[in-house]
Amino acid sequence: MRCSAKQQLQTETKGRPALNNAEIAALTGKYVMPTYGRLPLAFVRGEGCRLWDADGKMYLDFLAGISVVGTGHCHPRVVEAICRQAATLMHTSNLFHIEPQARLAELLCTHSCAEKVFFCNSGAEANEAAIKLARKWAGLHKGPQARGIVTALNSFHGRTLATVTATGQEKYNKPFAPLPPGFTHVPYDDIDALAAAMDETVCAVMLEPIIAEGGVIVPDEGYMGKVRELCDERHVLLILDEVQTGLGRTGKLFGYQHWGIEPDVFTLAKALGGGFPIGACLARGDAATALEPGNHASTFGGNHLACAAGEAAVRVILEDDLAHNAAVMGQRLRDGLLTMRKSVPLVAGVRGRGLLLGLELSAPKGTEVEAVCRERGLIVNKLGDDLLRLAPPLVMTAAEADEGLEILREALLAV
Ligand SMILES: Cc1ncc(COP(=O)(O)O)c(C=O)c1O
Repeated sequence: MRCSAKQQLQTETKGRPALNNAEIAALTGKYVMPTYGRLPLAFVRGEGCRLWDADGKMYLDFLAGISVVGTGHCHPRVVEAICRQAATLMHTSNLFHIEPQARLAELLCTHSCAEKVFFCNSGAEANEAAIKLARKWAGLHKGPQARGIVTALNSFHGRTLATVTATGQEKYNKPFAPLPPGFTHVPYDDIDALAAAMDETVCAVMLEPIIAEGGVIVPDEGYMGKVRELCDERHVLLILDEVQTGLGRTGKLFGYQHWGIEPDVFTLAKALGGGFPIGACLARGDAATALEPGNHASTFGGNHLACAAGEAAVRVILEDDLAHNAAVMGQRLRDGLLTMRKSVPLVAGVRGRGLLLGLELSAPKGTEVEAVCRERGLIVNKLGDDLLRLAPPLVMTAAEADEGLEILREALLAV
């Protein structure tokens, strides 16, 4: 290998004065578009479940870059794969075959129901590809009238115009009207509402196996099975958005495995690159061959570097059985929080699966709890006034889970 992570870090920081949290925030405020309501911290280093900010303070990370670093921050095998590939070949274009892309596609298909993969760079792009795929498939297998996509209220599918329209939350898409036509939203976990919406204009149903951003909502045990049956009966594609639930997060390798079904199409991103940007749209059956040369493309999609990172991250997830660890650690957090409920009145309940958990608060104190946790060195994420998301790296140990629970207990009592 021609570069080591340490050597690279030394070269990068040599001679450059390090900025502190406040200086980084000021620079961001001056030069970066204000699209994010940012918290007053800038992390500069990470290892496993730990992060360090620019003022040198250490944190336990119960957010994992929003479910991204499943393998933990800077997993040595991911870092090594990136350094090796970066020093060998980063990009050539999809005009040519790309070995790491082919290898990652094989790995993903071998461990899922998919037969073919399209690579892109993010979750929104993966869902955008799935939407285009469904409409192309409908043109081939259903007829020109079937262009509609049904999605769920409270879902989140991304920020491009099509995916933000698919997203069943007006706060995200209303300011960007006129929105692309062909999207309908139905209540999640309501099979009758879905059945009523699935007329002959519909080509696909797109759902999250567990709603993540929209509030960590786990559907009823039988719901997804009935969705699958409906899609089969009406010859409609079932697209599952596994951008957040995929690759071990919920305690199974893929969210659909909780429900004993297989989607026709599913999408991945977030954890796929171990922290490096990459997305994927995966399909089986006639959906896998609906997109033909010229139908869809991405300059950067599936490049050597992203796919080398992806292969390393997925191999770590598989070989270290991080889905199992997520199930065990998720249960530990859940048990700890339910025990806490007896003595901490602010804890109302816990929902979710594996390490995608929602901590329900009995009062609208999410912002305060999040802030006190931060002061005490724990990163959690407020999803609503009365809901905190806990989504630690999947490599979390029992000691780290207990440490996080203790900080949470102190914070919940302090506010
Ligand atoms: C379920 C789901 N789909 C899609 C996206 C969009 O992914 P990205 O931000 O990588 O475009 C997200 C992001 O949070 C997500 O949670």
